Amino acid sequence: MADGSPHFRPWTPARRTRPLGLLPFLWVSWRDPLTMWSERHFREPQLYGNSRLGEILVVSHPEGVRQVLSSNAANYEKGALQRRVLGPMLAEGLLLTEGEAWRRVRRILAPLFTPARTATMTRPMADCSRRRVESWRLDLGPRVLNLDAEMSGLTFDILSAALFSDQLDGDAEGFERALNGFLSLAARIDPLDVLAAPDWIPRLGRVTGAGAGRFFESRVSALVARRRAQVEAGDVVADDLLTALLTARDEDDGEGLSDREVASNVLTFILAGHETTARTLGWVLHLISRTPEVAARLHQEADAFDAEAPDWADRLPWTRAVIEEAMRLFPPAPTLARRALGPDVVGGQAIGPGTAVLISPWVLHRHELLWDAPEEFRPERFLPENRKSVDRWAYIPFSAGPRVCIGAAFALNEAMIALATILKAATVEPIAPTEPRPIHQITLRSAQPIRLRLRQRQPLNPHP
Ligand code: HEM
Repeated sequence: MADGSPHFRPWTPARRTRPLGLLPFLWVSWRDPLTMWSERHFREPQLYGNSRLGEILVVSHPEGVRQVLSSNAANYEKGALQRRVLGPMLAEGLLLTEGEAWRRVRRILAPLFTPARTATMTRPMADCSRRRVESWRLDLGPRVLNLDAEMSGLTFDILSAALFSDQLDGDAEGFERALNGFLSLAARIDPLDVLAAPDWIPRLGRVTGAGAGRFFESRVSALVARRRAQVEAGDVVADDLLTALLTARDEDDGEGLSDREVASNVLTFILAGHETTARTLGWVLHLISRTPEVAARLHQEADAFDAEAPDWADRLPWTRAVIEEAMRLFPPAPTLARRALGPDVVGGQAIGPGTAVLISPWVLHRHELLWDAPEEFRPERFLPENRKSVDRWAYIPFSAGPRVCIGAAFALNEAMIALATILKAATVEPIAPTEPRPIHQITLRSAQPIRLRLRQRQPLNPHP
């Protein structure tokens, strides 16, 4: 809370007074791209530059965002940088494919994420959340928890239930360790990648993260092969996302996905779906630990939460609004990068083929031309009665247009259920005045784990 405003204003890194030169830019991209933004990025609708790195356009106005992500999306691809950073493991997954290959996989996967299919996950989401809260044993007294680790564990349990019906053979922890190793080492933006240096030059993170990558690939490939054999033998198999991936067919030509494509998409769902939702929950818990009046509203909703009620989601308007506001202030995917395939004019600026176009939810969601008090935590913005005044193209935590996040509804349901379950059982309090500091490492994480004190409110009722 600052300047007499009653609203909480979370800590954010200082903005640069001037945009960076080339070498400092490369260093900052490696260390933390969040600190590369300058004051001008948050004040001006777009910024264009032409340097030894090529043309770069940063777009932060709704009309430009709509053009690049939707109305002229065909003119933009994700570009080599993302494939280089994430590519080796995820090359054939939905997140990284392009053109006709992407359209085919998206057509095949769309039925797996319909509202009806997502609704079947409500019960497993609630069960995993309840088990996680019970494991904290708050009945024995208040506890300080590393909520980043706990939320990663929880969203991993949920994804593992959705994908494999919990058939990770008791090695969920090893799996998760490998995932974290990959994220913290392999997946930083390497200056060599920004300069598009040839692939044979070893990248520090890539080398140190290779073990984690191999572990992942071999585990997932084994799971896929085993389930494929069961499906082909006509065995009774679990009704989960893995079976759905193996049996889904393209409505155009009746073809399904190869084992490699299935494995690549399983890895994509884990990487795209687990970390993002966990980070969202971590930031939400931090924000409500600092705002007791908002926490009180969420506790009230949580007390009445019943995952069995068909309209459970409609009964959590504040819970949903807090999650949406947390993703405004701390968007889990802080920057979307595109490369122009052909010439275009964006916001009056002519750009050529090959131009890097950056749309940063971090900048857009805090842009001074687009939001009242952009730095303040004001969940009311997202209550049903105010939601329509939020511009569709100014708020894009899940991106927008044809490549919008396929798991957005899954993620929102998951976050609401997890939060309501946690807050039904516990209150959350900060343990120190120092706030967690956001850092951009593919997702928007906290530089130090978010640690909070949880105190029991009431024991959770087990399901009948
Ligand atoms: C709070 C949670 C989540 C956030 C903030 C989020 C955000 C995003 C964003 C911004 C994109 C677009 C990336 C780009 O265009 O460069 C995306 C794509 C994607 N997300 Fe999510 N995501 C979340 C959860 C999930 C979940 C739970 C799943 C799956 C179970 C998932 C699967 C995917 C996939 C497969 C894509 C690629 C879609 C395509 O290119 O067609 N995400 N997500």
